[in-house]
Amino acid sequence: MSAQVRLVEVTDVNRAAVAALRVHPAQERFVASVEKSFQDARDNPDANPWFRAVHDGDEPVGFVMLSWDVVPGPELRGPYFLWRLLVGADHQGRGYGAAVLDEVVALLRAEGATELLTSCVPGEGSPEPFYRRYGFVPTGETDEDGEIILRLDLGSRP
Ligand SMILES: CC(C)(COP(=O)(O)OP(=O)(O)OC[C@H]1O[C@@H](n2cnc3c(N)ncnc32)[C@H](O)[C@@H]1OP(=O)(O)O)[C@@H](O)C(=O)NCCC(=O)NCCS
Repeated sequence: MSAQVRLVEVTDVNRAAVAALRVHPAQERFVASVEKSFQDARDNPDANPWFRAVHDGDEPVGFVMLSWDVVPGPELRGPYFLWRLLVGADHQGRGYGAAVLDEVVALLRAEGATELLTSCVPGEGSPEPFYRRYGFVPTGETDEDGEIILRLDLGSRP
């Protein structure tokens, strides 16, 4: 399925609508809210947070946040780490999530990045199959919270 999305800066115009996006209640254990993400971005400048609202036309349908070009270290994975990705419950299953990844991958390639890392909680309802379907592969590592680390080789995607 292919969907069209735009990654749009969060401004006073769209902030409330983006923050109002909710995943399904059963998914809340897999992802923090948009509001919490804004807070995390403010609290973690060292992680070089980069975030965008995901729009279909003028309608916010999702949110994405990365750690952008950081020097990896004990506290930070990178250089590029997909930190948050969510599509609103009413908008899921229409290709938006994969379309966001397509946009992010294009931006990262333009930066000369060779891989994108992410992590997710395994288990029933986990986004892990979504990431694997897209081409992410588990590295075999887990983080301090027990989340599995996944890697997308940007060289291997068309
Ligand atoms: C994970 C998430 C971003 C996927 O967004 P989405 O817009 O529903 O995904 P898409 O419609 O682009 O799906 C792309 C493909 O992945 C598949 N897919 C999506 N979620 C899946 C899941 N949980 N399990 C298995 N397959 C899944 C779709 O069926 C689709 O397959 P297709 O190519 O055969 O059609 C969305 O479900 C979400 O926001 N979940 C809650 C938050 C979350 O877990 N975020 C990740 C934090 S680590």
